[in-house]
Amino acid sequence: DWTMRAFREEAIEKIRAQVGKGKVICGLSGGVDSSVAAILIHEAIGDQLTCVFVDHGMLRKDEAKTVVDLFRHHYNIPLVHVDASKTFLGELDGVTDPEVKRKTIGRLFIDVFDAEAKKIAALGKGSADFLAQGTLYPDVIESVSFTGGPSVTIKSHHNVGGLPARMNMKLVEPLRELFKDEVRALGRELGLPDVFVGRHPFPGPGLAIRCPGEITREKLDILREADAVYIDQIRKAGLYDTIWQAFAVLLPVKTVGVMGDGRTYDFVVGLRAVTSTDGMTADFYPFDMKFLGETATRIINEVKGVNRVVYDVTSKPPGTIEWE
Ligand code: XMP
Repeated sequence: DWTMRAFREEAIEKIRAQVGKGKVICGLSGGVDSSVAAILIHEAIGDQLTCVFVDHGMLRKDEAKTVVDLFRHHYNIPLVHVDASKTFLGELDGVTDPEVKRKTIGRLFIDVFDAEAKKIAALGKGSADFLAQGTLYPDVIESVSFTGGPSVTIKSHHNVGGLPARMNMKLVEPLRELFKDEVRALGRELGLPDVFVGRHPFPGPGLAIRCPGEITREKLDILREADAVYIDQIRKAGLYDTIWQAFAVLLPVKTVGVMGDGRTYDFVVGLRAVTSTDGMTADFYPFDMKFLGETATRIINEVKGVNRVVYDVTSKPPGTIEWE
């Protein structure tokens, strides 16, 4: 793609001019935007960049491994992998309110990231002067145009892009002029594997908001397994790229079932899949019944702790995409 090749060259020059010999820290979420920003910046300034990946313990199955493999091993980008699951799950113990969950995770995320940034600065190779972010053009617009708009908060968003307020660092935002499809094209230009470029969006608070009610390690483990089976089914059916976003939800309800000649009393998994262009509105995806039946059977057979599966047929509005 000629446009993206030209953009890449120009962006690299701009990053070099802005950063000079300074140090840059980039928070990785595993999403496309922060990944593309990190790879581009690494191309521009090499090991002056350090990436920080905060694992809050509410990621999808194998997510940390995927991110570490890609950045450390494939791209050779210095990456600090922080396992902060104890801190996060500890603070979330007993929390059931969706907004409290979101705000707790957002606050802890900044604390953990800030502590890592200070450690990296203290390594003595000069201080970290810049914070890199995968901010896109729509993010820039949205944060401006919302002033004076409706004042109802549906959900307090947390994402890796929300870091700067308390951090007092200069920002490097090489994707500020791009739309999502352009970032994907740039990602391909930078050699980011297709499966990575085409990933469904994943919210900053992670599985916490797909586990309505209290979050426990046991529930998160069940949810991770069920979600992995569901996504595998969708990939095998060739539907992954048609669907905007699909995921499993673990309901805080146990129901009675029968398996062999025994009674079971286990959790219910909800399946969500939507089509959308921007996430602002969405339609539930009309799977055929055969697909849903087979997926339910696989989840119940393969995931211990689940004996019932339901499909969410709510569009947005009135439902939101995530359940919390
Ligand atoms: P809702 O649930 O509001 O979600 O219909 C719309 C889109 O936004 C994603 N989402 C988030 N993304 N931080 C994020 O980075 C968040 O806190 C967050 N909450 C929701 C959601 O997955 C969907 O794609």
